[in-house]
Amino acid sequence: MIFGLGKSKGIIGLDIGTSSIKLAELKETKRGYQLVSLGESFLQPESIVNKAIVDPEAVIDSISSLIDEHKIKTSNAAISISGHSINIKKVSLPLMEEKELKDAIPWELEQYIPHSINDVNYDFQILPGENAEGNMDVLIVAAKKDVADTYVYIVTEAGLNPVVLDVDAFALENMYELNYEETDEVVALINIGASVTNINILKEGISIFTRDITTGGYQFTDAIKSEFNVDYDEAERMKFSMGAGTIPPELDRLARDFTDSVSGEIKRTIDFFSKTIWKDAVQQIIISGGSSKVPCFLETLRETLGTRVDLIDPFQNIAYSDSDFDPEYIEDVGPKMGVAIGLSLRRLGDR
Ligand SMILES: Nc1ncnc2c1ncn2[C@@H]1O[C@H](COP(=O)(O)OP(=O)(O)OP(=O)(O)O)[C@@H](O)[C@H]1O
Ligand SMILES: [Mg+2]
Repeated sequence: MIFGLGKSKGIIGLDIGTSSIKLAELKETKRGYQLVSLGESFLQPESIVNKAIVDPEAVIDSISSLIDEHKIKTSNAAISISGHSINIKKVSLPLMEEKELKDAIPWELEQYIPHSINDVNYDFQILPGENAEGNMDVLIVAAKKDVADTYVYIVTEAGLNPVVLDVDAFALENMYELNYEETDEVVALINIGASVTNINILKEGISIFTRDITTGGYQFTDAIKSEFNVDYDEAERMKFSMGAGTIPPELDRLARDFTDSVSGEIKRTIDFFSKTIWKDAVQQIIISGGSSKVPCFLETLRETLGTRVDLIDPFQNIAYSDSDFDPEYIEDVGPKMGVAIGLSLRRLGDR
């Protein structure tokens, strides 16, 4: 699901995350996709708060420096938003022509968005298949205009041409489709970022449920800040160092509190899904996002959910040259590059 914003050929994927901006560019070759550029630029926590851009200058500078550093020539960019400003809804409607449906969508939207229809940008997609009553399932996505406009504005100010406005959860799904074999299992893609955790549950490759939970790695950073009386940068350093060497017991305890709390919230969402949306349980979980790197996360999720849990590999089906990209770097940043990779796969007109 995308909001097409203009014409384009090559596209870079630009994931404007709360903790960092991620950039990815791919090239399509006869043998598949090849990585052209990959980069990240960190932000201070005051720049984007709850996914709303509060310091546009800082974000614009960060994007511009990323473009310069990686000598990006492509100006078309696919960007995405997530969190509270997005509403995603699957509705069942009587079979009708696309034109009729276009007129029906605003009425449908009015019923479930907490904003006026004039305050949102929206798009819709008819989902494949016909259901029992001869109805069709339609996916409607609405994004708050002021939030979407700010994202478009900052990307434009950074000298790029925003041609696609996507949603994190769907960008993640696009990346998953490229890298993973089709399965008839119910698969949950979970992206645990800094301020938001995106959940997208797929059945036979089709999204049947999405939810953004407003929790993520910042919660852990804040706990480190107050426990050790350190600033944000030092707290982040402490988190990043956990993968190497022994973890001090206090830090380990905070990590466990954090992973327990987020796993609990994920469990509540998945239980809700299984009780109300779909009869089959989630059979497989694939986690991504920077916070998936917290050492005990995978085990905690496995224990809490009793489900198979794997870490994402967005580069499974993307070739790259070892001389241009250090494989260790790719492995290290891979889990948080899912959305950027998904965005870089977008082409105007695809749905
Ligand atoms: N190696 C690591 N160990 C522990 N935590 C990490 C590690 N690397 C990143 N993180 C944490 O992951 C979070 C950033 O993840 P990510 O880049 O996916 O988020 P984001 O896209 O910037 O945020 P959001 O999607 O919520 O807007 C931060 O809280 C960061 O501290
Ligand atoms: Mg993110």
